Amino acid sequence: MTAPKDFNDRMLSLGLARVSEAAAHASALLIGRGDEKAADQAAVNAMRDQLNMLDIKGVVVIGEGERDEAPMLYIGEEVGNGNGPEVDIALDPLEGTTLTAKDMPNALTVIAMAPRGTLLHAPDVYMDKLAIGPGYPKDVVSLDMSPAERVTALAKARGCKAGDITVCILERPRHEDMIAEVRETGAAIRLITDGDVAGVIHTAEAELTGIDMYMGSGGAPEGVLAASALKCMGGQMWGRLLFRNEDEKGRAKKAGITDLDRIYARDDLVTADVIFAATGVTNGSIVAGVKREPGYLQTETILMRSKTGSVRRMIYRNPIR
Ligand code: FBP
Repeated sequence: MTAPKDFNDRMLSLGLARVSEAAAHASALLIGRGDEKAADQAAVNAMRDQLNMLDIKGVVVIGEGERDEAPMLYIGEEVGNGNGPEVDIALDPLEGTTLTAKDMPNALTVIAMAPRGTLLHAPDVYMDKLAIGPGYPKDVVSLDMSPAERVTALAKARGCKAGDITVCILERPRHEDMIAEVRETGAAIRLITDGDVAGVIHTAEAELTGIDMYMGSGGAPEGVLAASALKCMGGQMWGRLLFRNEDEKGRAKKAGITDLDRIYARDDLVTADVIFAATGVTNGSIVAGVKREPGYLQTETILMRSKTGSVRRMIYRNPIR
């Protein structure tokens, strides 16, 4: 699907970077303060204020939750000043609330924008995820393979030993078997305590991050954000929704999803051109965290467009008022 003419992603992209910068600035003052909620709320407020200045008719499709559980940036909330193209917005004002509260690496503010109706309305359930960077044959690994088979297939495609592959996995009890199986192959594992959007993005810059593949389950909304980033950077990703009960299945049906077992490839999660921005809150391998110097704050933002494959890293310095 090609983007409609009025989706001027080039013009809108800088505005999107401003939105993610503002959220990072706001949460910066709460890094390491042990208060996840306050850090998240600061990011939400700032993101919403900036978003409402953009020349768009936006609707939040991935947001802070359902309307009854999130007063701001809830799913379905209309954002923007109404003067511009109809767009879908996926956002996570603070991806890694615990990372921020504990001052641990890779907390990000994240936002993606695409023409209306082109981002999957993923319900707030888990998603089984698998991602690799660019340069591999199509479908070289799949969600239907076992973790060990994925490592072997990727190593073969890269022309290296399984022991030369590094896999990133969220450290959770539910992943214990997966971790053990990957270890059996001889591959290395980068365990992360939170933040699988960053985990997936890491695969797109393997030479920088050392991570070749991401696997495991995490939030489905984060899956759509990660797919948006990979669509800009290159790389393949697959996701399958996971349901723990009937209520979660109901959430998916409410979001218009009928095939609950479907495996979504990257371009099923994001079906048209997308713009993606993420700003570092704490230091990470993708972008630096917010730097606080006397009198000013400095952020680094990664801003990308799938239409051109352009990736910008932008430093923004702003006086503290
Ligand atoms: P929050 O920033 O909302 O705390 O999410 C962090 C995160 O680690 C996501 O990156 C990931 O998708 C999800 O939580 C994993 O969920 P769980 O902690 O339930 O395993």
